Amino acid sequence: MIFQGKSFLAEKDFTKDELQYLIDFSKHLKNLKKRGIPHRYLEGQNIALLFEKNSTRTRAAFTVAANDLGAHPEFLGANDIQLGSKESVSDTAKVLGSMFDGIEYRGSSQDVVESLAEHAGVPVWNGLTDDWHPTQMIADFLTIQENFGYLEGINLVYCGDGRNNVANSLLVTGAILGTNVRIVSPKELQPEEKVVAFAQKFAADSGAKLVVTDSVEEGVSNADVLYTDVWVSMGEEEKFAERIELLLPYQVNQKMIELAQNEDVIFMHCLPAFHDTNTKYAKDILEKFGLQEMEVTDEVFNGKYAQQFEQAENRLHSIKAIMAATSGNLFITKV
Ligand code: CP
Ligand code: NVA
Repeated sequence: MIFQGKSFLAEKDFTKDELQYLIDFSKHLKNLKKRGIPHRYLEGQNIALLFEKNSTRTRAAFTVAANDLGAHPEFLGANDIQLGSKESVSDTAKVLGSMFDGIEYRGSSQDVVESLAEHAGVPVWNGLTDDWHPTQMIADFLTIQENFGYLEGINLVYCGDGRNNVANSLLVTGAILGTNVRIVSPKELQPEEKVVAFAQKFAADSGAKLVVTDSVEEGVSNADVLYTDVWVSMGEEEKFAERIELLLPYQVNQKMIELAQNEDVIFMHCLPAFHDTNTKYAKDILEKFGLQEMEVTDEVFNGKYAQQFEQAENRLHSIKAIMAATSGNLFITKV
């Protein structure tokens, strides 16, 4: 039972076949959900949801997934428990692990989620750290597979902040799965050397071609997927001025879509996105910097290539697959 009891902390801990299994299992669970067929693999379990950073999709997906699987989710926010302020990570892990059957964690530190996993004795799922966003990847590659039918050889182009959690995860996951990944970012925001070196090792096995470039023309040509994320990630809010200056040429707009020269290109975004001024945050940016849109224009966001809401829904099915595979006692002996 290869997944049972295992934590889901970073993509690198899983083989190509294992990641592909989770993608295909997500598709299966999506189908069961749409057809109203019960899939209560975690009947009677209790799941802790630790969020030190805000979330809409990840929190909603873990909550609904737990309920659909027959488990009870319990939300434990940053100010609700003693973690980090009065109690160490390892002590918290031992206590939660003695009561809960699985623990989701979202916060800044990859070390914290790894330490939770080391001490909890139950599966721990990484709901986003500053380094990686692995549950997002199963949803994203499911979305790509749904659109194109396959993953190997697809040109996935990520434009924007190339050294954030989502860019890191796309690079490594694509490299494992055989999807060509291009990170298109200004030099100052390109992925760390160690992440690229790491991804290259996987690419040598899978045949994925990896490119890191600051040239939009070079990076975007023949793209099958144009992917972007916010220019300023959670916890970096003081960096708006410098990011806007560096990243404006990397905005995903209609002109960039045309540069792909591919009628079948799709647009993806992990969300939330700054594509209009309908949020408090965006109004603030408009006032300070005169910008109405940031990483993606409203035209592209609402255009015919956009897949971000299908991608968001897929968070539910993929998180469900990850939870069921690791905590559901399923008969998966080999993939
Ligand atoms: N994509 C994503 O993780 O969204 P949330 O921050 O809303 O969970
Ligand atoms: N890079 C973003 C992803 C949000 C889902 C952040 O960390 O804020």
